[in-house]
Amino acid sequence: MSNVKTATRNALDRVLRIADARVITQREELVTQRQYARVVQNLYDIHIEHVFPALREREGRLPLISKLIGTEISEAMHLLHWLQNAQDSGEGDVVEMGVAQGSTSALLANEIMNSGRHLWLYDSFQGLSRPTAEDRLIDDIEGRGTMHSYESAMSFPQDLVRKRLTSVGFPFDRLHIVAGFIAEELRDLPDVVAFAYLDFDLYKPILTGLRLLGSRTRPGSILMVDDYGYFSSGPEQAVRDFLAEDDRFDLVVGPRNAGHFCALLRR
Ligand SMILES: C[S@@+](CC[C@H](N)C(=O)[O-])C[C@H]1O[C@@H](n2cnc3c(N)ncnc32)[C@H](O)[C@@H]1O
Repeated sequence: MSNVKTATRNALDRVLRIADARVITQREELVTQRQYARVVQNLYDIHIEHVFPALREREGRLPLISKLIGTEISEAMHLLHWLQNAQDSGEGDVVEMGVAQGSTSALLANEIMNSGRHLWLYDSFQGLSRPTAEDRLIDDIEGRGTMHSYESAMSFPQDLVRKRLTSVGFPFDRLHIVAGFIAEELRDLPDVVAFAYLDFDLYKPILTGLRLLGSRTRPGSILMVDDYGYFSSGPEQAVRDFLAEDDRFDLVVGPRNAGHFCALLRR
């Protein structure tokens, strides 16, 4: 590296140190990506061998798992397991509520590519809605200090999601992107839901999503909820309140060392 480049890099490093970050070259980034891809492959193989031996292979899955943001590999493996079970048990579409930049949406799309099922994606594309009293801050994941300051956080443009789904080749005539804050009056919904991943992070939208989707499930459908007992107390409370209203589901809480999620299995 030339002296000018080295000096520039050192100067930038000194500034970035404040944010606990450092400059890396494109070459270093490539090496890091390759190392990470190997780690993902190893963790994937371990899960298949020891935890989910019945999970069938799917082309293109590993690179999409590597690109997940904020979802641990162990949680992704549970998602794939429940998605397969829900698909094997019968008809219905697949839903994600709270899609952010669409990395989990791309994984779901790839899994159902040849099934003829539709993919329904819901997001405000304006970030989190206003937290309510049920949302107590448990984990201050972005260091914002208060629950209230998370309103509007995690906002991404819808275009980003479309680009991701284009890159996996999911047919647009089976894709429904429903933009806006989730509301009980929403009618743009699948007739039957086989599997849903609810990741709105907060009490009110999760409870609304569970109510909207719960009535469209059939025996064998699975509703998976992220952030159960993590970030905000809201998602866990929403699941409890929903189960008090609708007793047709069994609750399975994900193992604590695998992430923070649960699944509602429709009897
Ligand atoms: C944690 S992110 C979703 C992450 C995504 N599932 C993934 O795996 O990459 C939460 C998303 O929920 C959306 N959201 C939060 N509250 C909402 C609401 N009331 N209505 C619609 N979208 C909402 C936010 O815009 C944000 O994109």
